[in-house]
Amino acid sequence: MPLRPAVSILPDANAVARRLAARVADALRANPSLVLGLPTGRTPLLLYEELVRLAKDGTAGFAAATTFNLDEFIGIPATHPGSYRSFMQRHLFDHVNIDPSRINFLDGSAPDAEAEGCRYEKAIEKAGGIDLLILGIGTNGHVGFNEPSRGLAARTHRVTLKAETRRSNAALFGGDPDAVPAEALSMGMGTIFDARSVVLVATGERKAPCVEQLVSGPITTELPASFLQLHANVEIMLDKAAAQKL
Ligand code: PGA
Repeated sequence: MPLRPAVSILPDANAVARRLAARVADALRANPSLVLGLPTGRTPLLLYEELVRLAKDGTAGFAAATTFNLDEFIGIPATHPGSYRSFMQRHLFDHVNIDPSRINFLDGSAPDAEAEGCRYEKAIEKAGGIDLLILGIGTNGHVGFNEPSRGLAARTHRVTLKAETRRSNAALFGGDPDAVPAEALSMGMGTIFDARSVVLVATGERKAPCVEQLVSGPITTELPASFLQLHANVEIMLDKAAAQKL
């Protein structure tokens, strides 16, 4: 029986980005109508840079692809420079040949968060489910905005962000953690689990403790990423620094 989760360790963050971008490009070639789940954060920046490069040289084609991002802040419009939608426009969508009508995002300014969660779940279902979901991991073990807690939500839902998560997003809000919205919408653990394949990417020494727990620790709601040990098709892609405790 193969070891789960499968772990790949690459020399550095650039090598991780190249490997993952090549995997996405291969998946797009095999299935141009691929449904991708995408993360935000500092970690995927190099991945998006590499994907833009591959799109420009014709190696990665997004024309028929569909995307669903994992999460979005509540209380700011999509056009706010701190929104995850703006982040994705800046770093990927504005630079590749993706059809805007196939970009799916949670609406953080929707008046009814519960209804917005249902809408998103239905849209994922209608698209045929997520083929390849790329995840980052928070230093506290969160995936998407599923924060450590006594219980985890299965489906797309409203979350209150932990202080440490707001701090790590401060750069999007002029460096001020208090300016980061206190709440967000996030895919749930079940939404994440329904993806046919998952790649979790982590780079840098800061991530070494949560990566160790994710790979070797018990499965616990206090480290939401640990549930990925149960997913049948998950790969953990690391640089040496993030893998140093394995
Ligand atoms: P980071 O965030 O890539 O900025 O470390 C990852 C996450 O919180 O999921």
